[in-house]
Formats: sequence, C-alpha cells, structure tokens
Amino acid sequence: MIVLSVESSCDETSVSISQNGKTILSNIVLSQIELHQAFGGVVPEIASREHVKGITAVFEKALKDADKTPSDIDLIAVTKGPGLIGSLLVGINAAKAFAFAHQIPIVGIHHIAGHIYANHIENDLEFPLIALVVSGGHTELVLMKEHYSFETLGQTYDDAVGEAYDKIARVLDLGYPGGPIIDKLAHEGQPTYPMPNIDTSSRYDFSYSGLKSHVINMINTMRMKKEPINHRNMAASFQKAAVKHLITQSKHAIEDVDAKMFVVAGGVAANKHLRAEVNKHFKDIKTTMPAFKYCTDNAAMMGIAGYFYYQKYQRQDAMDMNGFSRLDLRE
Ligand code: KG4
Ligand code: ZN
Repeated sequence: MIVLSVESSCDETSVSISQNGKTILSNIVLSQIELHQAFGGVVPEIASREHVKGITAVFEKALKDADKTPSDIDLIAVTKGPGLIGSLLVGINAAKAFAFAHQIPIVGIHHIAGHIYANHIENDLEFPLIALVVSGGHTELVLMKEHYSFETLGQTYDDAVGEAYDKIARVLDLGYPGGPIIDKLAHEGQPTYPMPNIDTSSRYDFSYSGLKSHVINMINTMRMKKEPINHRNMAASFQKAAVKHLITQSKHAIEDVDAKMFVVAGGVAANKHLRAEVNKHFKDIKTTMPAFKYCTDNAAMMGIAGYFYYQKYQRQDAMDMNGFSRLDLRE
C-alpha cells in the first residue's frame, strides 16, 4: 500500500510518500523557521500564508522524488489536529482536493500519533509500550497496548518541555527555536546553577512552569545586579533538571505497566542529553528514538500512523472532514 501523507500543523509544510507503513520513499519538508525567527516564535497568520504558497510544489516534489504518479497512491493521510487551525486547514484542503480529484480514500490523523509512529520507521513497535511525547506543545506519557490504541497516562499541568526551552532561550536572547540552541550550549557548559527538583504529586504528570520561572527569575536578578551570566552553564543546569523530570516520570510508567518497549517522540526527542539519559537509564527495556530528521514535524511520520489507522479501522473520512486546534489522541 502506497500512502501520500501531508503535515502542516505548525510551521513546516511537508508531504511524504511511504510504503506499507515502513519504507519512506520521499519526505519533503519546507521549513518556515527563518521567516518566524524575527518574531521570536511562530506567527500563525504568516504560517498559513506560507503553507498556501508552498504546498503545491511540495506535493509535486514528493511524488517526483518517490517516482510515483497520483494513480499509484492507495491512501491519503493528513494531520487533522492539534495545531494552528489556519495552518492545518491548508494541508487538509490540499489533501482533500487531491483525494477528490484522484478518487483516493483519505484519513485524518492525530499529530501525536504521527510523532509516536515516527519510531516505527526504524524499529518495529512492540506492545505494551510507553511513549514519552515531548514537543513544543505536548509533554505526555502514553500507553499503547496494541497498534493504534492510545491511553494518556499523564501530561503536563502547565508548560510543555519544548515550550520551556523556547521561552528560556528567548529570555537569554539566543534565538528561535530555543531547544536545539540550548542543547548545543549545554554540552559546552557545566550544571553549576542551582535548580529546583520538580516533584508533581502524581507519578505520571509533568510540570515545567516552576523550573521555567526559576530560571527566568535567576536571569533577571543577575541582570539587575549586573552579575555576568554564563549562558553555557545556565543551559546545562536547566537541561539537566528538565531531562531528569522526564526520566523520573517515564520510569514510573514503565515499571507500573511492565512495558516491553519505551518510545520517545516529538521535537525534543532530538535532544542529545535526553537521548543519552534514556540509553543510560533504560538498559533493561527496548528503547527507540526516531532518527533526527523524523523527530521534528514531518509528513513521513503521518504516513506511517495513517497506514496503521487504516489497517485497523478500514475507515475513511468524508470530504467534510475538519481540522481541530485541540484534539484528544483517541479521536
Ligand atoms: O514536534 P515539534 O517539531 O513541534 C511540535 O509539535 O511542537 O517540536 C518542536 C519543539 C520546539 O519546542 C523545539 O525547541 C524543540 O522541539 N526541540 C528541541 C530540540 N530540537 C527541537 N528541544 C530540545 N533539544 C533539541 N535538540
Ligand atoms: Zn510536532
């Protein structure tokens, strides 16, 4: 089965062609990051317009690179949410137009299902698994007992971990997105600044606003006192505390459900310290993290999730399918 998939939930316009939920034949990602950098974050109106400008060429390039024509496509999978609604609708409408013109079934897929399934590209998922989903909008622990079945065990009470990275980078005037920049600086520094130990009362939930505020207050106080701030050490200190919380809560979930596999998903899965800590702490369980290019938003992962959704439910969406800025993983 050949799947054409589309992802446009934030600031990447992406189309991919994949085969049987496993092999990626093409994956075109048109990033808008440079345009949004001047504003220190994604501007939704600009994002929608850029998707409109780019999407046709991205469709054409994905087909060309995979050496496929529309008649080769068996299924279309598109991100239906959550995300920026204007951005989502561009991808959804392009996917619907393509489906209608070529009479191909279409399925709307949850963005986080895509992030989790990015792992299946290199390592077959084994169940029960615990997925740690870490991105700019999500910090969640998800239990999967079989393909395309999701149970959210815990989530963040406040900020997502990626959001905390981005905000701290902004306060330090480091640029956008902050995650990769802080990650790089942290590896050149030492965790010398004191950080609070994050302790949520629950075993699976997360909280990042306390750590974020602690770092921002510390920076502001040092600036007022005109004390020099060592950016590398600040990055290393924050990153150590942020990743420790992810590892602690993941351990709880893995132990409690006796999971066979631990999966890390989402943009923050690209974080080098997190990857190293996962390898260090979870030696007794199979772990998987996507290749770097499949950590941040891309259509390839949506194609894999779309394939498994369709295999399981044999259900397609109608032409009035909508996009959703908020969406439960089970929908
Ligand atoms: O999954 P993604 O591309 O978009 C969302 O669905 O949110 O994740 C983007 C997030 C941003 O917050 C970005 O700063 C973070 O992932 N990120 C990282 C790294 N690379 C991307 N955070 C920490 N370390 C990284 N190396
Ligand atoms: Zn994402």
